[in-house]
Amino acid sequence: MEVVYYFSRSGRSEFVANELSKRRNAQVFKIDDHRDWSGFKGMFWGGYHATFRIGIPIDYRKPHDDEEIILVFPVWASALPPAVRTFCKEVSKARITAVVTSSGSLLKERKGFKKVVDLVKVDAEIVDF
Ligand SMILES: Cc1cc2nc3c(=O)[nH]c(=O)nc-3n(C[C@H](O)[C@H](O)[C@H](O)COP(=O)(O)O)c2cc1C
Repeated sequence: MEVVYYFSRSGRSEFVANELSKRRNAQVFKIDDHRDWSGFKGMFWGGYHATFRIGIPIDYRKPHDDEEIILVFPVWASALPPAVRTFCKEVSKARITAVVTSSGSLLKERKGFKKVVDLVKVDAEIVDF
């Protein structure tokens, strides 16, 4: 069975996750790091954490062993947001199909995922995979 997880700062990855959840009839779960990444300060520290590969504690509903995981998240500094880094470490990248939103560049840390789907600048439509 498929389940959708997402991390989102400004709502785009959340929108994509909800769309995928509807289309694929899969439950959707938020990854919560309890941080405020808003504004310039949030953008700066977000970039800092991503650049230096820093993970942070997160809360999420633990996936069951038989679930296939679709994980939607934004590219941060060509890398993983800190909450996503922790999720990937705890859950294992090999189980995860990454659906990555970005405003122009691709995720550089692609190794280890089951699959990576890039949604560069795509807003309302979602590529099927
Ligand atoms: C800290 C930070 C770093 C980012 N770095 C990149 C980047 O390296 N390349 C890129 O194309 N977009 C980058 N972006 C833009 C986001 O990936 C893009 O706007 C994303 O779709 C936002 O998704 P969200 O609304 O779910 O947070 C960055 C955004 C933030 C906040």
